[in-house]
Amino acid sequence: MFQDLVPGFDALAVGLLALLILDYIRVSLRQGLRTLPGPVLARFSYLYRLLMVYNGDGPANYLKIHQKYGPIVRVGPNEVSVADPKMIPVIYGIGSKFTKTPFYDTMAPVYQGEVMDSMFTARDPIYHKHLKSSVSQIFSMTNMKNFEVYTDECTQIFMDAMLDLENQSLDFSKWLQWYAFDVISAITFQRRFGFMEQRRDVDDMIGKIDTGLQYVKILGQLPFIIPILRRALLSRQFQRLNLLPDTLDRFMKITEEEIDRYDHHSVENRKAGRTDFLAQLREKEERSGKISHRDMMNHLSNNLLAGSDTTAISLRAMIYYIVRTPHVYDKIQTEIDEADRHGRLSKFITYEECLKLPYLQATMKEAMRLHPGVGFPLERYVPPSGAEICGHRLPAGTNVSISAPVIHQIKDIYGEDADCFRPERWLEASPESLKAMDRYFLSFGHGARTCIGKNISIMEMGKFVPQLLRHFKISWASPLPEWRTHASWFWKQSGLIVRLERRVAP
Ligand code: HEM
Repeated sequence: MFQDLVPGFDALAVGLLALLILDYIRVSLRQGLRTLPGPVLARFSYLYRLLMVYNGDGPANYLKIHQKYGPIVRVGPNEVSVADPKMIPVIYGIGSKFTKTPFYDTMAPVYQGEVMDSMFTARDPIYHKHLKSSVSQIFSMTNMKNFEVYTDECTQIFMDAMLDLENQSLDFSKWLQWYAFDVISAITFQRRFGFMEQRRDVDDMIGKIDTGLQYVKILGQLPFIIPILRRALLSRQFQRLNLLPDTLDRFMKITEEEIDRYDHHSVENRKAGRTDFLAQLREKEERSGKISHRDMMNHLSNNLLAGSDTTAISLRAMIYYIVRTPHVYDKIQTEIDEADRHGRLSKFITYEECLKLPYLQATMKEAMRLHPGVGFPLERYVPPSGAEICGHRLPAGTNVSISAPVIHQIKDIYGEDADCFRPERWLEASPESLKAMDRYFLSFGHGARTCIGKNISIMEMGKFVPQLLRHFKISWASPLPEWRTHASWFWKQSGLIVRLERRVAP
């Protein structure tokens, strides 16, 4: 049929096919990459990478290919996955010239018709530095005391709900996410979205992030599409087609409302002693100069996006592993009860108090080691000078990455039983081993682009989990023996069904 419409179609088709094949061969023979081990399909096509993550099993599949091919594997035409911990400082260390890849562009929100790169998605180091400079103090450990009051308010609401729902089967996968989301919005601008009060996904906000992440999971594996899509997203004609849902629109609107609300009541706010993120940013402006409305929007909305799922996943991991490992549950309960009996715990356990519960802290680390919040590889481009990775000279522009779920299974670092949940490993290790375990712990990333919000999460989890265990006995109530997990950047879990029974603290 095409032959009738286009004279010489056969020749054209054969020519195009030949060009395509030649291009595939050229790409697969790329200097520096052609000697790397890996599956044949990955040399030619992005399909392999896509198939590895498509079903949500990315963490297990990356582990498998490294078990099969070794510490360096070619996983795409220009993509290399690394499982050698010594390469972590090389790729991610402070001062490293490796930059984030376009994968991160898939997670940048659009605001007022323009892409708004956040501190997390920014690929340009200068722009990243600009964004970071206005908030790094607010994220510092010493500032966490200003946020505790907001977490305590949310904890009270959570506890009241648990009393109300005592002895019923509860989907804790949802409850813990509602908690984490309400906490981060309260810390960010003193407003709870009300997930816990309404006991539902208000305005489908969590559902919308999940939908967005399904796009991230797929499009992020196809780097040639990302720049086209980024341009299309900004074109009015494309927007009118409504092909991609605007999953972040609601967050932007709420963030705008909250900035407005603050600015209209700034005098009363000050009298009321607001210490949330927004109030602190406005105070910082007074001391060191204007922060643009766009940067303000950027920081506040990013807190919601970067700080809710991640903390919820880590809370789920803690509760799941504690409940499923009776001897751990006994030990952590004993530690909490003893501290309580000796009057070392306030009505709401403070951040300072929870840092003095070593078994709790070890349990938190161990849960995040076995189940890191981010299950995908952290992609970076090799700088213009090229780089020596696992004994191979990789050319500039190669996409290299390391995954936390893979690194955390390395027996030389975490022990022969690295695949088991055993918080004791963090307490028994020699100082030297502990140093290595900490250095290669990748749940919060590493180096120059490490998680800036980690103090918030460590404070939140460290306060909340012992508070919950102090007042409730939690038991597994699912008909299934396990939870389910799905990684689409965040490594989310579902099916964490438990039953709570109140207990009298000693
Ligand atoms: C347990 C909870 C958390 C986990 C597991 C986590 C994980 C991570 C990881 C792995 C990275 C590095 C990403 C990369 O290198 O590509 C990162 C970066 C980041 N995280 Fe977190 N995060 C958590 C909590 C938070 C919170 C509560 C916030 C904010 C309120 C936050 C804000 C950020 C930001 C802004 C970045 C980018 C930092 C930069 O590039 O300078 N995170 N996080």
